[in-house]
Formats: sequence, structure tokens, C-alpha cells
Amino acid sequence: MKATEITEGIYRLGINLESDQLFEGMWPMPDGISINSYVIKGEKTAIIDLTEDVDDKPVQFERELASIALQARDVDYLIINHMEPDHTSWLPAFYAKNPDLQIYISEKGAAVLKAFCGIDRNVHIVTTGDTLDLGKGKILTFYEAPNLHWPETMFTFEQSSGILFTCDAFGSYGAITDAVFDDQLSSEQHDFFMREALRYYSNIIGGLSMFVSKAIELVQDLEIKMVAPSHGIVWRENPGEIIEAYARFARYMTGPAEPEVTILWSSMYGNTQKVVNAMVKGVRSEGLPVHLHRVPHDHVSFILASAWKSAGLILGMPTYEYRMFPPMAWALDMFGRKKVWNKKVLRFGSFGWSGGAQRELDTLTEKMKWTFVEPVEWQGRPDDAILARAEAQAVALARQIKGDFAG
Ligand code: FEO
Repeated sequence: MKATEITEGIYRLGINLESDQLFEGMWPMPDGISINSYVIKGEKTAIIDLTEDVDDKPVQFERELASIALQARDVDYLIINHMEPDHTSWLPAFYAKNPDLQIYISEKGAAVLKAFCGIDRNVHIVTTGDTLDLGKGKILTFYEAPNLHWPETMFTFEQSSGILFTCDAFGSYGAITDAVFDDQLSSEQHDFFMREALRYYSNIIGGLSMFVSKAIELVQDLEIKMVAPSHGIVWRENPGEIIEAYARFARYMTGPAEPEVTILWSSMYGNTQKVVNAMVKGVRSEGLPVHLHRVPHDHVSFILASAWKSAGLILGMPTYEYRMFPPMAWALDMFGRKKVWNKKVLRFGSFGWSGGAQRELDTLTEKMKWTFVEPVEWQGRPDDAILARAEAQAVALARQIKGDFAG
């Protein structure tokens, strides 16, 4: 792929990680993910964020540089918005080709740069409001945006073009093939990137949502004409759309989220499974959408995305040796780590000789600000009375959720 000129003198370079890899070693990417870098040519040349040293990606990256008549040694400045290795693991090799490279980074980033790349020479620490003039009217301004997604992260704004370079923030899963900009997407592709932005957010950024709102406030007075993240598409036609989406995703943590219910359920011998349909029926009878996931069959990456967006959760799990069914415990532990907070929740499940799942669930979720509807529990097989009670409790949950949106 060649570099794409996104406006006069500013280029996007990008590689795609493949769909058979796991992002951060744990998140599935059925449609890959792009890692974007940006070149800004003034009298001096800067690169914002680099790329990952995996497979032949550096070779691809150098080809893209060559497509705009650049080699590593031609680059004057590297701006590091974020030090995570998907954006920097190729830096030591790049630096070896260009030892005069001047690096601009936040103070916390400088420490991480030394730890990960062993580089502490030609490092310039910047804070919010600092600028770097590249000449020919290209001026970069830096904004510290901590915890998006590591403590050292920052945004870079190019004044003449109004482009905000945000690295992980406003990013999404999904490889970039032909379309680079939001206005080049079909409606299906647009829906895909919005859906994958939510999944990426819930997997990577969600637990840091309190910092998203602060970062958006920090740049709210800028005249932003494009949002250029280092994962996903460049938002040229409607940069406000992805900023507003991220603001909305952040609000989901404080609740209520959308008037929808995610049902995640697990079953050992089918007795808990027999009640799933009653739960679905109860929620749907109140007109709320349902997202169904079976644990451990569905990856928690996708379950997180549904749960993040849903005001209500229904958790189906049998009791297993006096505690929660282990695969469900694992999924809910991830909910805790990623701060799936402020939900209305109903649990159901069968037990063999003793309950205990609810007790462990209460302990696991005590800091997550969940409000529980009385659970539906039974020994062995569910009978008609249990099915009726399950549907009634699902209706009760749905009505509570609707109550939060009334008026
Ligand atoms: Fe794309 Fe937090 O790295």
C-alpha cells in the first residue's frame, strides 16, 4: 500500500495486523486492525507514531515511506503520542538507521521510552501547549491526554490543517484496505467501523473512561477538521461523529447505558439453558433488544462490547462446587477489570445440591455498582413454575431499565 496524502503535505502510512493474531495477545481481530502513522512535511519532516516490529511490517512501512520519497534517515522528528509497542517496537531499528532523530514525547513517555527501547538521547519532553514548528506553516501543538491508553499518552494537533492525531483514542478494530476516510465507506463499512470502535473501546479504553471525558474537554475549543487515530479510519467528513461516540461510550460506565439487555449464559447439562428462552421472552415482551452470548463459547471481547452498551445484564450460570460456574466467573472478572459498572442485573441458574453462585457474584461485583433484581434459582431441572418466574423477573428487570429512560 502507498502512503495516502490526507491533506497537503500530510500523509497517512499504515500496516494491518492480520486476523489470525490476537491484539495485545488476547483480543480477537476477525477483520484485523490497522496501525497508522502520519508524516508531516514542512521544511522539516516529522512522523507521528511509528509501527510494530512484527513479520514484514517494517518492510511494508519503509515501502510506504519510499512512496513519498522518504527514507528513515530523512525524518527529522518523531512524535510519540503513545509508547505501547504496537506503535514503537520498530523504533530501535528505525533509530539505528537515523541516530540524529529528535524525539518529542511526554515526561512519563520518556521513562517508558528508555525502558522499552533503551533510548534517552535526543529526547525532548513536551507538555500541553508546547509547539514544534516544522516550517512551511506546519506547526504541531501537544496536549497531554493521560491514560488513553497508558499514563504517558498525548494528542498532537496540526494547526494549519486542523488535524488532531490521537493514537489509540478514537480508534477501532478493522484493517484498512481501500477506504482510508469516513466519507469513502459504504453504509455497511461505516456500521462495521462504529461497531468495532465500540468493541475496541470496551476492550482497550473502557476501564479508563473517566479520562476520555477529560481529554475531550481538553481539545473542545480546537477547530478540529479531521481526527486521525493510529487504529482505524481517518474521520474527515464528520470528525465529530467519532468524538461524540467516544463521549457516549464513556458515559456508559456511569450509566445508564442503552435500553438494551445482554444475556450471557452458561450451562453444564442443559438445566440452566432451558430457562434462557423465558428470559429472552420476558425482556422482549417489554420491547427491549436482547444480545445473547454463551459462555465460554463466545469470546469475552465480544461480550464486553454488548455488556458495555447495555443498561441491563442477565447472567445465567449454574452453581459449580458452591460457587459460580468457572467460565462465567472468568468473564465477570474481566467485567470488573474493564469497569462494566452501573448495570441492572438479574441472575438465574440451577444447582445440584447447594446454591452459592449468587454469594460469590455479590462479592465479585460489590465495587461495580450493580443493582440486582431477585435471582431465579432452582435445584435440578426447571419446572413450569420456574419458567414462569424467570419470565416475570426478566419483565421486572426490563421495566426497571425502562424506568430509567422514562420522561
Ligand atoms: Fe495502540 Fe495502547 O496501543
